[in-house]
Amino acid sequence: MTEIAISTHSLTRDFPSVRAVDSLDLEIPAGVVFGFLGPNGSGKTTTVRLLLGLLEPTSGRAEVLGHDVSLEPQAVRAATGALMEHSGLYERLTAQENLEFFGRAAGMSRVDVKARIQELLDPLDLLERRGEQVGTWSRGMKQKLAVARSLMHRPRVVFLDEPTAGLDPVAAAGLRDDLARLVAEEGVTVFVNTHHLADAERLCHQVGVVRDGRLLAVGRPDELRTATGGRRLEIAGHGLGGDVLSAVRDATGVLEVRLENSRLVLDLDQDVRTPDIVRIVIDRGGEIEEVRRGAETLEEAFMNLLEASDDDI
Ligand SMILES: Nc1ncnc2c1ncn2[C@@H]1O[C@H](COP(=O)(O)OP(=O)(O)OP(=O)(O)O)[C@@H](O)[C@H]1O
Ligand SMILES: [Mg+2]
Repeated sequence: MTEIAISTHSLTRDFPSVRAVDSLDLEIPAGVVFGFLGPNGSGKTTTVRLLLGLLEPTSGRAEVLGHDVSLEPQAVRAATGALMEHSGLYERLTAQENLEFFGRAAGMSRVDVKARIQELLDPLDLLERRGEQVGTWSRGMKQKLAVARSLMHRPRVVFLDEPTAGLDPVAAAGLRDDLARLVAEEGVTVFVNTHHLADAERLCHQVGVVRDGRLLAVGRPDELRTATGGRRLEIAGHGLGGDVLSAVRDATGVLEVRLENSRLVLDLDQDVRTPDIVRIVIDRGGEIEEVRRGAETLEEAFMNLLEASDDDI
């Protein structure tokens, strides 16, 4: 049986003027990198605060590593690490002093703290600079150190709230790769809030899309991309040029069509049905080997999901 690291059951949190989290049901297996995606104000940070036991749910409940977050917040915090909006680093201390402080506070021995600092800072290329005051560091370096801090006491679950916020694209990609490696090596379960959909696509095994506190979709990034509603259709096969291409181009609802490495790539109106296009291809003598309908990227799938949920309001 798969071990479940994080689960929520109709988790709900109201603030005076808004329902920030609305009947959230999640089940995240251990060892998974879960990306929580949603526009500003959709309830991502509030969810993490609920999961850390920093905020009481209005109704519903949540468990992290088998501990109810309302009943056993101490146990939850001992077994988890977190990187929230404020890094929690002390600018006047050196990187090493910061990690020593957090490690000792978490009950680690001096020897263990020393070994762990080496283990975390070396792959992040920060080991040589561990004696410098954190206040003098660039944002990207501080962010890497904050990630190291969140992993210091070897938590089995780590929450990262926008870990790449404010980083340039190269630094963000670097941090994402470092994270992926650490996560793979340590087998830790990660719950990451992010707006970077390209990051989510590369880093996350599973993503959930949230809006106004409600979960719109959950699944693997490729599942979300190929979920219904995509405007992109790809057809692979033989004889797709010439006649087939021009007939498809003239079909109703086909916005754009091109041949890429002998695959037909079509951008469609939302309501065009895949079988109608397939029929045209076959009628004109095309041989089909594979048909894929979906969004091109996770970003497009995300936008589609949000648009579709607009219609529900
Ligand atoms: N302490 C609070 N008091 C009142 N309202 C709050 C509080 N915390 C959050 N909210 C409201 O709850 C909603 C969700 O906020 P939250 O910070 O969880 O969103 P988010 O998805 O993390 O957004 P962002 O992407 O901008 O970080 C917002 O409408 C926000 O104003
Ligand atoms: Mg937030």
